[in-house]
Amino acid sequence: MTAEYEVRGTVAVITLNNPPVNGLGLATRTAAVKGIQQALADDAVKAIVITGAGKAFSGGADIKEFNSPKALAEPSLHTLIATAEGSTKPVVAAIHTICMGGGLELSLGCHYRVAMPGAQIALPEVKLGVLPGAGGTQRLPRVLGLEMALNMIVSGTPVLSDKLANTALFDAVFAADADLVSSAVAFAETIADARPLPKVRDRKVDYPNHEAFLQFSRNTVKAMSGPFPAPLECVETVAASVTMKFEDGMKFERERFLHLIQTTESKALRHAFFAERVASKVPDVPPDTPVRAIKQAAVIGAGTMGGGIAMNFLNAGIPVVMLETKQEALDKGLATIRKNYENTMKKGKLTQEKFDQRMALVSGTLAYEDIGQADIVVEAVFEEMGVKEAVFRKLDEVMKPGAILASNTSTLDLNQIAGFTKRPQDVIGTHFFSPANVMKLLEIVRGAQTGKDVLATALALSKKLKKTGVVSGVCDGFIGNRMIEQYSRQAGFLLEEGALPEQVDKAVEKFGFAMGPFRMGDLAGNDIGWAIRKRRYVEKPEISYSKTADLLCEMGRYGQKTGAGWYDYKAGDRKAYPNEQVNAMIVQHSADIGVARRKISDQEIIERLVYSMVNEAAHILEEGIALRASDIDMVYLTGYGFPLFRGGPMFYADTVGLPNVLAAINKYAQGHQGSAWKPAPLLVKLAEEGKGFNS
Ligand code: NAI
Repeated sequence: MTAEYEVRGTVAVITLNNPPVNGLGLATRTAAVKGIQQALADDAVKAIVITGAGKAFSGGADIKEFNSPKALAEPSLHTLIATAEGSTKPVVAAIHTICMGGGLELSLGCHYRVAMPGAQIALPEVKLGVLPGAGGTQRLPRVLGLEMALNMIVSGTPVLSDKLANTALFDAVFAADADLVSSAVAFAETIADARPLPKVRDRKVDYPNHEAFLQFSRNTVKAMSGPFPAPLECVETVAASVTMKFEDGMKFERERFLHLIQTTESKALRHAFFAERVASKVPDVPPDTPVRAIKQAAVIGAGTMGGGIAMNFLNAGIPVVMLETKQEALDKGLATIRKNYENTMKKGKLTQEKFDQRMALVSGTLAYEDIGQADIVVEAVFEEMGVKEAVFRKLDEVMKPGAILASNTSTLDLNQIAGFTKRPQDVIGTHFFSPANVMKLLEIVRGAQTGKDVLATALALSKKLKKTGVVSGVCDGFIGNRMIEQYSRQAGFLLEEGALPEQVDKAVEKFGFAMGPFRMGDLAGNDIGWAIRKRRYVEKPEISYSKTADLLCEMGRYGQKTGAGWYDYKAGDRKAYPNEQVNAMIVQHSADIGVARRKISDQEIIERLVYSMVNEAAHILEEGIALRASDIDMVYLTGYGFPLFRGGPMFYADTVGLPNVLAAINKYAQGHQGSAWKPAPLLVKLAEEGKGFNS
């Protein structure tokens, strides 16, 4: 079904029908145009109502047709809108629930618009790095006025129809209990003979001293939009609705739309949009795989991660029991949760009622018997196999059959952990990122024996917890930390060769990361990496590291928590101040290992840090640890602050061109610590074939 046609008395009703949100794909557009033509040809029909079936008037473009020739095929959205606007019989848009993007643009081409209250009205194109390309920038200001239309188009944020009831956007907003279609038909009957037909394009945008307002908007939007060109382009096209004739404004909108759609920033945003959707799809776990009900959760360990993980469940309304070994640790963990919520309340982002509801859902215990009935238990105890073993053996004893046993381990072998139980099919990794109540990423680690229904349940749970779930196979560090390890190693080698922390951090921050590797190390605690390296020196002596980070820790400089790390910190101030002793230690270390320091360019810094991750990611893909390149991008966009406008490491490598990435890797393989660079076979293959990771 694409659009239905029926005649009620003297009014034709065209109902868009393309679930889930009546996206205006080719078939729907074709059916809608046909419906209008049929109504025009029928002498008994005096007016036309266009509405949407199910849960939307229309959500706009059909995302299934994005990047396909169908998106632009005739009848295009422009043609559909022109057909409605040019109709010699009045066309009424009957709006409900969702009216966004092309859906709103279509309604603006209709002669009248009526709506139910509570409908979400938006032009969200800016979120995908483009602007409304079917007249939205020219028509919306003509009905809402310059200021309100500009705000909506620049932000992409929905506004409820009731809030717009007194604007020229709507001719009527019905009562909440009204029947939309019969009310719209009744409305259409009242205006059936009114002529001339009102057209939004014929209206004028009046705004006294518009230039001053537009200049103010340009300045504000420029300051807020960072590297993204779309918001400012939105301002310019909306400006055209005041300064140009309608037809000229439409041409200008088209031109800017076609420009934006080609920009890397927009391509990156669209890539991220689709990557997020595809991440929840696992080829051998069909969408109809049954999921287990999660009505009660337990968390083992009320430390840094345990507390944050518990908050995720509480936020989703799922009761949580926290288990600790000592009352003191339990009390501390529960108090931290309370404090976190109190802080959110102080910021006005949580009501007292919600606070009370959430706190009522959490309880603590020291006894395993109290958690046996939980549907899922997430273990977040110390990162030591011995401790994990004791916990999982106990869980195997006490948990009810069918409970999911999840581990938050960041480095340990999940298969070994599963082996401590007699139910490895119920064991899975749920690797949250710190702070667990804030970070969007959830790496879902699929063990060799993890059940498909358990994986499907974890993916569904990630959505419920408002996380981006990405599936990873079992390996040291999974997807994210395995790649960041290469990044950190290169950061250390750069220090040995001539860079200082400040230069590296500045280059990385200019590239778009929120924080460079050294400021990040100071934030996370340099002692954590030190502990991991000490283990690696024993377990994997073949891997080389710069000793600078160890020397730093030997100086007692663990980072912000000790007030000193790669940088100095002052109380109450997170600003990083370079420290001469640290820099002297770095320079001295180069001398000690016989490396003549040289000037290192920012470009080299970025290439070495990012390409080392990309190369590791190519191994990860080849080994099947990640299902697809876009999953790796999602991990980095949602868990590691990779700049969104660059689309993630794999997308970025594709934009640079894999032959260029490979050439740089081969060059660095000849330099200091060159053995760290061995091009991944997949990277070599794709570069030779002229392909990208994502194409
Ligand atoms: P933490 O040291 O802050 O908390 C661990 C808690 O577990 C402590 O409160 C401790 O009393 C409790 N605990 C220890 N043994 C226990 C047992 N047998 N039964 C019950 N409770 C026990 O550690 P953190 O940072 O929360 O890490 C926990 C896990 O999460 C580790 O596996 C770690 O690798 C992983 N992880 C940590 C991240 C981080 O940024 N801190 C990020 C992602 C994963």
